[in-house]
Amino acid sequence: MTHLKCIECGTTYDIDEIIYKCGKCDGILEVVTDIEELRNKISTDKWKGRSLSVWRYIDFLPIKDKINIVTLNEGGTGLHRCKRLAEKIGLKKLFIKFEGENPTGSFKDRGMTVGVSKARELGVSIVICASTGNTSASLAAYAAKSGKQCIVLVPAGKIGVGKLAQAIAHGARLIQVKGNFDDSLDMVFQLCERNNQIYLLNSINPFRIEGQKTIAFEVSEQLGVPPDCMVMPVGNAGNISAAWKGFNEFEAVGLTNSKPRMIGIQAEGASPIVNAYRKKKIRVEPILFPETVATAIRIGNPVSWRKALNSIYESNGYAETVTDQEILDAQRLLAQTEGIFAEPASATPIASLKKLLDQGVINKSDSIVCVATGHGLKDADVITRVFGKPIEVEADIDAIEKSLNLLVKYDRWLEEPSST
Ligand SMILES: Cc1ncc(COP(=O)(O)O)c(C=O)c1O
Ligand SMILES: [Zn+2]
Repeated sequence: MTHLKCIECGTTYDIDEIIYKCGKCDGILEVVTDIEELRNKISTDKWKGRSLSVWRYIDFLPIKDKINIVTLNEGGTGLHRCKRLAEKIGLKKLFIKFEGENPTGSFKDRGMTVGVSKARELGVSIVICASTGNTSASLAAYAAKSGKQCIVLVPAGKIGVGKLAQAIAHGARLIQVKGNFDDSLDMVFQLCERNNQIYLLNSINPFRIEGQKTIAFEVSEQLGVPPDCMVMPVGNAGNISAAWKGFNEFEAVGLTNSKPRMIGIQAEGASPIVNAYRKKKIRVEPILFPETVATAIRIGNPVSWRKALNSIYESNGYAETVTDQEILDAQRLLAQTEGIFAEPASATPIASLKKLLDQGVINKSDSIVCVATGHGLKDADVITRVFGKPIEVEADIDAIEKSLNLLVKYDRWLEEPSST
C-alpha cells in the first residue's frame, strides 16, 4: 500500500493523514510508492498513448479518483538540444528542460496540480504557502481553478514583479512579510498549527514532490534513456529531491536501467547545501541572511535539505555555487544563443557548466540536462536593471539609420557592382 513515511525515523502514516512532519521526531515525510502494485498497473501499455504531461503518469501519482484532478495542462515541456550554447562551453550533448513552458511559467505547476488535487480529495477549503514567488503564482492559479481560498506569504520587496502580479491577479490573499523566505515559511507553519482548516502546500508537503518527480519521467522518455547528469538550481531543495525520486521509481519498475548524477547549484550568497556538501557533512547549517540576485533561491534554511543531500550523495553527484555576475551572464548567454528566456535562478545550472567541466566534474561528451525552472518574464525588471535602458531616437529615418550605424553599410551595398 502506498503510504507516508518519515525520512528520518521511518515511522509510517496513512496516505490521507494531514501531517507535514513526523509526530515522533519532527523529520519530513515522503510518499512511499508500492512498486509491485505500480508494476502491475503500468504493465498494460495504456499510459504510453497519453501525451507528454504530468497526468500521463497518473499511475505513479497518489490520487485515488480522477474526478479530483485539478489541472491546467502542466508538464510536457520541451527538452531543447542546445548546440550553440554547448559549443561555447565546450560540451557535446547539452539539453535544456524549459520549465518556463508550464501554465504559470515554472516547474511549480507539476507539484501544484497534484498538491491541489490532493487538497480536493481531502476536502480542505483553504490552501497556503510561503514563497519566493513562483510557488505563490502557481498555488494562486490552481486554487482559483478549484474554487479554494488561497493565502500566500512572501518576503517583502524580494520577489519578481511578474510573480507578485500573478498571485494578485488570481485572487490570492497576499501578505508581504518583513523578513526573508525562511521567516515567511515559519509563519505559515504556525498558522497551520493554529488552524487545521488551512492546508500547507509548500514542498514540505510530499504530494508536491510527487508531481515534481514527473520531470524525471519526461526527460527519460524524451532522451530515450536518463541523461548522465541532471543539473538543477537548489533553493528549498524540493525539486532536486523530486527528480531523484522520479529517476529511482522509473528504474524500480523496469522502465530504465540507469540514473543520472544529480548536480545541485546554489547562489554564492545562499548556499547552505553546497557548504554542507563541501564539508562532506550530513547536516546543513542554516544561513541567517541569504542574499542573491536570483530571488527564487534566496533561501538560507532549506526544508528538504536531507532529501537533497541524499540525492546528491546517492547519485554520486555534486554541488557547486555560482556568483550573481555568473548568473546574469549565463541568463544572457542562454537567451542570446538559444532563444530561451529563463529567470536568474534558472540560469544557475548554465552558469556552473564551465566550472564543472574545468574541474573534471563533468566530461565534454556527457549528456547533460540543465533544468531552466522558470520563465524570464517573471522577473523582467532584472533585465532592464542590468542591461540598461534602450536608447530613444526621433521618428526620423536618417536619425534611426545613424543610430543603427547602417548608413555606411547601406552606401556600400548601393556601390556594389550589379552581378547581372
Ligand atoms: C525558478 C526557481 N528555480 C528554482 C527553485 C528552487 O527549487 P527548490 O526550492 O525546490 O529547490 C525555485 C523555488 O522557488 C524557483 O522558483
Ligand atoms: Zn520520524
